[in-house]
Amino acid sequence: MKILWRIGLLFAGVVFRQVLYLGLAHLLTSMKVQQWKMAEDQAYGIPSLRNTPEDVATMKSLGFDAYRFSISWSRLLPRGHLIGGVNQKGIDYYNNLINELLANGIQPFVTLYHWDLPQVLEDEYGGLLSSKLVDDFRDYAELCFSKFGDRVKHWVTFNEPLTVATDGYTNGKKAPGRCSNWLPFNCTGGDSSTEPYLAAHNQLLAHAAAVKVYRDKYQISQMGQIGITINSEWLLPMTDSISDLNAVARAISFEYDWFMEPLKSGSYPADMVAYVGKRLPQFSEDESLLVKGSFDFIGVNYYTSKYATNVPCKTENLSYSTDSCVMRTPDRNGIPIGPRSGSEWLYVYPRGIHDLLLYTKNKFNDPVIYITENGVSELDDTDRIMLEDDLRVDYFNNHLAFIKKAIMKGVKVKGYFGWSLLDNFEWDDGFAVRFGMVYVNYKDGLERSLKKSAMWFKEFLHSGNYSQLAAF
Ligand SMILES: *[C@@H]1O[C@H](CO)[C@@H](O)[C@H](O)[C@H]1NC(C)=O
Ligand SMILES: *[C@@H]1O[C@H](CO)[C@@H](O)[C@H](O)[C@H]1NC(C)=O
Ligand SMILES: *[C@@H]1O[C@H](CO)[C@@H](O)[C@H](O)[C@H]1NC(C)=O
Repeated sequence: MKILWRIGLLFAGVVFRQVLYLGLAHLLTSMKVQQWKMAEDQAYGIPSLRNTPEDVATMKSLGFDAYRFSISWSRLLPRGHLIGGVNQKGIDYYNNLINELLANGIQPFVTLYHWDLPQVLEDEYGGLLSSKLVDDFRDYAELCFSKFGDRVKHWVTFNEPLTVATDGYTNGKKAPGRCSNWLPFNCTGGDSSTEPYLAAHNQLLAHAAAVKVYRDKYQISQMGQIGITINSEWLLPMTDSISDLNAVARAISFEYDWFMEPLKSGSYPADMVAYVGKRLPQFSEDESLLVKGSFDFIGVNYYTSKYATNVPCKTENLSYSTDSCVMRTPDRNGIPIGPRSGSEWLYVYPRGIHDLLLYTKNKFNDPVIYITENGVSELDDTDRIMLEDDLRVDYFNNHLAFIKKAIMKGVKVKGYFGWSLLDNFEWDDGFAVRFGMVYVNYKDGLERSLKKSAMWFKEFLHSGNYSQLAAF
């Protein structure tokens, strides 16, 4: 028994080390950098490239061997589509970044859509609500494959289509800020009972079209991999009642299976079909075949977990947010599921990433997985430089430990990106919360300083001693 256990550990150690060196140590970051750069331009008028060599050198010194960032569609195609012309300066910008990364032994891991649709396409045909998105996204993706695919070997089409559908079209918190007029969110238009489903549907179709063009024309010569990044919370039942257990299953269906089931089987999950009815779009036979299996890997973004409880279904004021007939809360009997971060939506629950990974393996045919985001925020304290981020050290340590546990159970996790390398512009929270392991001083020339979490990673990756991870 003891010997078997040791062999088990040894094996896991090798797998995990491979993961760490082949891809995984892929620490971090992301498009937020891209977003950050844009914010930098706007807020400070500083040329975007200014810090690239410095930031790449930082990644290298910390031991990271991959860097996830996103390409800004409108930076390459200012008019949204090819006939509007290609912006060569945009191409040059990404060529420089990619070359700088590779020169430092860091693999570029590129996301094509991280929530920044060219405004011109929103104005022209309603953006994600129109099936015209599919061809325009495919053409933009193909431009990227043809310009950068000789060096970029990992492509993510869409980042978190769930967040786009919900925050963009259910509550209007993020672009394009649409929701039903009976909601108190001051949206300028929208229908929270139909548009989220349409926006999700068109993202899936656009994703599948981009994957098809990659597979048909580029993959054999470029030998890269393509996937999509899906995010989800993990859910726990509020009580042991059957109705709450069913509520958990439905909540996961409405967040995760919404995308994972079409990717696996070409159709929406049965309980979404049952609960949403004819407001849920349908795939034609051809579309279904295109979407089914349209990935080499799944990117998983995980931050937090919640409790779910069954509530009566609504008959009026319908919305995606109530269609599942589930209420989700971060606490049970007044006790939060874990420590609260600087973001109101993020309570720390490391076991959730393990449970989500096992669920993915068991329910969706054991796909290859990259953790494309995982991290924690702190509220900005404008009076001090916040380098003592023990909360973040614990967060990374505990989540990596649970990922290791999932790998030991056979989940095919091939890489891990923490969120985020730098403090970043956090969407509707602006600069009020910080996710970085590297501090950015907004008041003093955007100077960078390593936080404790960056030092922790450096030590962890350089030592190669994975038994330092927390034991669970
Ligand atoms: C629907 O929304 C309107 C506007 O907020 C509200 O007055 C009404 O009570 C809601 N109806 C139900 C059944 O919730
Ligand atoms: C909606 O607009 C009103 C008037 O401008 C404002 O007082 C209110 O705070 C806004 N509500 C939200 C949720 O933004
Ligand atoms: C690895 O880390 C563990 C836990 O911190 C420690 O006990 C052990 O001595 C370390 N092993 C090596 C080879 O440094």
